[in-house]
Amino acid sequence: PHIPVICVDGPTASGKGTLASQVAHALGYHYLDSGALYRIAAFAAIRAGLSLDAAHEHTIAKMAETLPVRFSGGHVFLAELDVTDAIRTEEAGMNASKVSALPSVRTALVALQHGFRRLPGLVADGRDMGTVIFPDAPLKVYLTASAAHRAERRHKQLISKGISTTIDSLRQDLEARDARDMNRATAPLKPAGDALLLDNSHQSVEESVAQVLRWWESRK
Ligand code: C5P
Repeated sequence: PHIPVICVDGPTASGKGTLASQVAHALGYHYLDSGALYRIAAFAAIRAGLSLDAAHEHTIAKMAETLPVRFSGGHVFLAELDVTDAIRTEEAGMNASKVSALPSVRTALVALQHGFRRLPGLVADGRDMGTVIFPDAPLKVYLTASAAHRAERRHKQLISKGISTTIDSLRQDLEARDARDMNRATAPLKPAGDALLLDNSHQSVEESVAQVLRWWESRK
C-alpha cells in the first residue's frame, strides 16, 4: 500500500522537531527524528573510542548499520542505555554533523529510516528527508528562520534548562553547523525541488502547524 510521508527539512534550530512531532500527533502518524540517528551514531562511535573522521568511516558505518536504537515514551535508547539527554547537547549536535558528512554512514542509516514508514503515515524531520530518503513524499516542507531568531530560541531553551551560554556563541555554532551541512558532498542540506518553503521567524508553533496541516489537506 502507499504509505503517506510528510518531510520537514531545514537548518539547525529552525524548529523542525517541534513542528514535525506536532503535525504527526495531530494526524496520528508516526514520527522520525532522523537527526537523533546521527547523534546516536556519533555517540556510539565516541564511546567505542573512534575519532569522527574519514579514517574510521568504514567502522562507524558498520556500527550504524546495526545501531541498536529504540525510541520509547519520549526517551531514546542505545541498546539498554538511556541517551535521551546525552545526545541533546550542542557538542552532540556538532559530532552528529561530523559523522553525517561521511557518505557510508549515511548509506548505512537508509534502511533504518525507511523502516519508520508504516501505516497510517509518517512525518519525518531532518536535512535530506525530501531530497534523498523519501523523494516520493507527497508533501515536503523546507523550514527556515533567520540565524538571529534561531540562536535566540536555542538560547531560551538552554537557559530554561539551566545551561548558561551566550546568543553570540550559539549563533556562531549554528552557522558553523549550517555551513558544514550545506557544503558537504553527500546529501547536502537544500530544499527539494518540489518543497514548500516555510519561514517561521515571525510565526508561532501553532501557526506553523496549522499551515502544514492546511497544505496536507489540500494535497490529499
Ligand atoms: O536535526 P539535528 O540537529 O538533531 O541533527 C544533527 C546533525 O545531524 C545535523 O547537523 C546534520 O549534520 C545531521 N543530519 C543529517 N541528515 C539528517 C538529519 C541530521 O545530516 N537527515
